[in-house]
Amino acid sequence: MCGIVGYVGDKQAQDVIIDGLRRLEYRGYDSAGIALVDTAQGSGSIASDKRAGKLANLEKSIAESALPPATTGIGHTRWATHGAPNDENAHPHLGKDRRVAVVHNGILENFAALRAGLEATGHEMASETDTEVAAHLLEIEVQTGADLTVAMQRVCQRLEGAFTLVAVDAQDSSRVVAARRNSPLVVGLGEGENFIGSDVSAFIQHTRDALELGQDTIVTITSDSVEVTAFDGTPAEGKPYHVDWDLSAAEKDGFDWFMRKEIFEQPRAVADALLGRHTESGALQLDEVRISEQELRDIDKIIIVACGTSCYAAMVAKYAIEHWTRIPCEVELSHEFRYRDPILTRQTLVVAISQSGETADTLMAIRYAREQRSKVLAICNTNGSTIPRESDAVIYTHAGPEIGVASTKGFVTQLIACYLLGLYLAQVRGTKFGDEIAAVVDDLARMPEHVQAVLDRADEVYAIAAQHAATRSVLFLGRHAGFPIALEGALKLKELAYIHAEGFAAGELKHGPIALIEEGLPVFCVVPPRGRDELHQKMVSAIQEIRARGAHTIVLAEEGDESIAPYADVLIRLPRVPTLLQPVVAVVPLQLFACELATQMGHDVDQPRNLAKSVTVE
Ligand code: F6R
Repeated sequence: MCGIVGYVGDKQAQDVIIDGLRRLEYRGYDSAGIALVDTAQGSGSIASDKRAGKLANLEKSIAESALPPATTGIGHTRWATHGAPNDENAHPHLGKDRRVAVVHNGILENFAALRAGLEATGHEMASETDTEVAAHLLEIEVQTGADLTVAMQRVCQRLEGAFTLVAVDAQDSSRVVAARRNSPLVVGLGEGENFIGSDVSAFIQHTRDALELGQDTIVTITSDSVEVTAFDGTPAEGKPYHVDWDLSAAEKDGFDWFMRKEIFEQPRAVADALLGRHTESGALQLDEVRISEQELRDIDKIIIVACGTSCYAAMVAKYAIEHWTRIPCEVELSHEFRYRDPILTRQTLVVAISQSGETADTLMAIRYAREQRSKVLAICNTNGSTIPRESDAVIYTHAGPEIGVASTKGFVTQLIACYLLGLYLAQVRGTKFGDEIAAVVDDLARMPEHVQAVLDRADEVYAIAAQHAATRSVLFLGRHAGFPIALEGALKLKELAYIHAEGFAAGELKHGPIALIEEGLPVFCVVPPRGRDELHQKMVSAIQEIRARGAHTIVLAEEGDESIAPYADVLIRLPRVPTLLQPVVAVVPLQLFACELATQMGHDVDQPRNLAKSVTVE
C-alpha cells in the first residue's frame, strides 16, 4: 500500500527511482511522483513532478518537461487514504519554502491537530493529505539549523499512527533520511550508492544486499554510509540479509500479466515450499519452527488469523490440522479478532498467514495475541517483513516475489505450509503414525506434477472464459475443503472482472442461495474426490438441483469420476488427489478463469481498480 523509493549515489536518481517505482507499482497506482535534489544552481533546490493515475502519466510528464540531472532523490506510488487521487494529493509533498520534500506510506492519525497548528502559524496546505504536515514540520526543523536526520527524529516523536517517511533537503544533497513505524521499509546496500524501498524489488536490479530495520527507527543513507538510530537519536542497528531471488524472478518472462506468469509458476513454487522440509522417509523437519516440542505438545487450541485469500488458506488449514492433530482450530479474520475479546492463553497457538507479511490488520492481531502471552507462528512469503519479525516462529512459503495484486502462488504455497505445519504437529504430538504422515508427504511431493497437469489444460479454461465474457454474475459451490476454494474462486473474479461473484458451501444452497439460480447462470461446482463418498454424493445432488433450475454448471471433478458427467454442462478434470489436498489443484482453473475473463473484458489484471498488494493500513 503505497510504494516508496529513495536513492543517493552516482547514477541518475531519476532513472533509478522511476525503475524502482515501476517494480513497486503493484503496491498502489492512484498516482505517482518524484523529487530530486537539484544542485545545478549552486544553492540547491527541489525539482519535482507528480501526476494522478498510473506511473505512465508521470513518465509522460517528465518526458515532456525534463527534470534536471541529480543523483539524490525520492519517489512514490500512491494508494489513496486521505484525499482523492489527484495531482495535488500525489506525493512528494513539499514544505512552505520548497526546501524539504517528503513521501509517505501509512496514516498520520494526529495530522488534523498538527495541520491546525501549522495553519495557525501561516502555513498553507496545498493538498488534503495527512502527509503534507510532515513536510512542513521537517522544514521548520531544518530551518532552525538541524540536519535532516535530527529533524526527522524530532518530527517522528510528534507523529501518531503508522508511517514510513522518506525525505530530502534541498540544501543537503548528500543524504536521504527515512523513518518507519508499523509500515515497511528496507535499505539496499550498494557500492558507492544506497537505496531505500518499501521492499527489495525497488532496488533488486542494483543490489541483493539489504538491511532490515526495526520498529521506530530512522535511517540516513549517503552514497557510502548507512546510519540507523531510534526516534530519540540513540544508535540502533539494522539486520543485514541477502535476497535469494534476482531481477528475472520479478519480470514477466513473456507472459501478458504477472498474475498469469505467477499462476504458471505454481508447480515450481509448490516444490520450493516443500524443499528440505521432510526427510526421504517422509518425516517432517521444520527446524524453523522455533517453538519447543514441549510447548507444541501443550497447545490446546489453534487460532489462525488472516485476511482475504490468506484467510481462505486458513479455512483449508482448519480441515487438515483438526483432522491430523485433533487440536481445536478456529479461523478468524484478523480485523475482527482483537475486537471481540478472544480467549487466549499460553496454550493457544496463534498462526498468522500473510503473503506480504505487512498486512496491518494481521500485524495488530499478532501483537494482541503476544500481549496475551500466546505463541505466534507466521506463515509468510516475504523475507524480512514485519509479521514474521514480530512472531515467535515463521514458516516461509518460498513462492518467490508475487507482483500481481491478486494472490495465486502465494495462496497455494500457503496451503502447502499449512499442511506441513499440521503434519509436523501430528508428528510431535503423536496423533498420526509415521507411516500415515509419510503417505501424506508422498502425496504432497506429487502436487507439483498435478498442478502442472491442470495448467497443461489451461486452454480449456480459457475457452470457458471466452464463452462468458459478457456474464454479470457467477456462483461457486464447494463442500468441505472445497468450500474455501469456492470462496477464493469468487474473490478472484470480483477483484479482477468486477462482476458479482459469490461462493457458497453447497449444503447451504437450500437455505437461501438457491433463489439466485436462474436460466443460464454460470455456477462452478468443486466436487470432492470420490474417496469421501458421502460428501461426493451430496455434491452431486446439489448440482442436480441447480441444473434442474436452469444453471449452467461448470463442474470440477477428478479424473475418472463419470457419475458427474450427466449433470455437467462443462467438465474440468482434476488430477486424483486426497480430499484434503484437493484445494491445491482445484483452485488453479478458477485462477485461470478469473485472469482470462478479466483479460477478455479489457481490465488491468495486475493492478485491479481500488486495490493494493500490501494493505498496510487498518
Ligand atoms: C486477494 C488478495 C488479498 C490478500 C489479503 C491479505 O487476491 O491477495 O485478499 O490475500 O489482502 O494479504 P496478505 O496475505 O499479504 O496478508
